[in-house]
Amino acid sequence: MSMSYATLPLPVVPAPYRVRVFTPEDMDGVIALYSHPEVARSLNFTVPVLRETLHTKLTGDLEAMRQGKGIRWVLAHEGAPTPLGYLTLFNWSQKDRRAEVGYMVARALWGQGVMTGILPALIRFGFEHLDLHRIEGMVNVRNTASHRALTRAGFQQEGVLRGYQADGNGGGFNDMCLLALLEDAWRASAAK
Ligand SMILES: CC(C)(COP(=O)(O)OP(=O)(O)OC[C@H]1O[C@@H](n2cnc3c(N)ncnc32)[C@H](O)[C@@H]1OP(=O)(O)O)[C@@H](O)C(=O)NCCC(=O)NCCS
Repeated sequence: MSMSYATLPLPVVPAPYRVRVFTPEDMDGVIALYSHPEVARSLNFTVPVLRETLHTKLTGDLEAMRQGKGIRWVLAHEGAPTPLGYLTLFNWSQKDRRAEVGYMVARALWGQGVMTGILPALIRFGFEHLDLHRIEGMVNVRNTASHRALTRAGFQQEGVLRGYQADGNGGGFNDMCLLALLEDAWRASAAK
């Protein structure tokens, strides 16, 4: 199904940030974010990550959006175009009313509470505007910051998928945590 997100509102994130829907004009800016070796490594890209690899990935993201499989947004400062993050609800199953949350912020912004501030806005968007009843997160067991951000937002760990992902940098196979937040729990919680 071809899908337009133009009629949907945008997630409302804390100042001084805002989000916009990802378009081809943001391609270079988002590639620059992914090109930082620590960002790329966290997302299991082989480092140094090739521009062509990222271009192919982002082109696939645009196509997935067109097909109604999810939404991608760019994070930026209010009044400045430079992408500072890349956010998504993806792997959207409309039939099952579930999707997966994904996110990345510029290396220079790590550890300042940015993602902790933004996650509630993505979750609210998913439950209120995509009619989800379940949002999932898949996190490398070593990605403490991501795991903590999800947990703080109310996600519960459901299990560890052992040896789930071939490491992009020769580290064997990665164990991944599966976390999820259900709509009922979100509505009942203070985290919203
Ligand atoms: C994961 C990521 C989005 C976190 O964003 P962030 O804005 O730096 O996170 P926050 O500052 O809100 O911190 C979230 C939590 O992690 C903790 N944390 C932050 N950096 C950490 C680090 N390097 N090691 C351990 N804990 C860390 C914070 O203390 C906070 O925990 P708390 O709520 O218990 O205090 C960011 O590190 C990133 O973009 N990483 C690369 C992409 C990625 O890994 N995406 C997720 C894939 S599942």
